[in-house]
Amino acid sequence: MKVLFVCLGNICRSPTAEGVFRRAIKQAGLAEQVEIDSCGVGSWHLGKAPDARAQQAALLRGIDLSGLRARQLSEHDFTEFDYVLGMDQDNLRAMRDLKPTNSKAHVGLFLDFAGTPGAEVPDPYYGGDEGFENVLNMIEAASDGLIQHLKRAL
Ligand code: 4NP
Repeated sequence: MKVLFVCLGNICRSPTAEGVFRRAIKQAGLAEQVEIDSCGVGSWHLGKAPDARAQQAALLRGIDLSGLRARQLSEHDFTEFDYVLGMDQDNLRAMRDLKPTNSKAHVGLFLDFAGTPGAEVPDPYYGGDEGFENVLNMIEAASDGLIQHLKRAL
């Protein structure tokens, strides 16, 4: 099973989701069965490490994002991954535009798995530190929900 998290820049929300979900999957004993990656719909930050504020907030919860590097979503991702999960409705629109017709991937919002269908993980880039805490809290809740879902699907 392969899961891809998508946001705009791949330096704040989706790398945070990758790091949080990777730890949750390990704790659930599913590390051998689930592959995880993240990317952005935009190209501004290609090759960059996650935003320093996102790294710091994650590190306070014991999650190291420093090794991650931004990459851009491609058409190929929709045949490579089983779940392609966006952070907000803008991401989702861009994802659906790029999705090829032969893709069987589940394309939707990550927070659908937190029991809040249609809800968005807000972009924390132009805000304060509390925005990054909020992102982490939402992502932790959605990660738990996605693990329950994958356990049923595996
Ligand atoms: P992300 O946050 O989509 O969560 O990685 C953003 C990062 C950069 C920009 C926007 C959002 N930006 O406009 O550069």
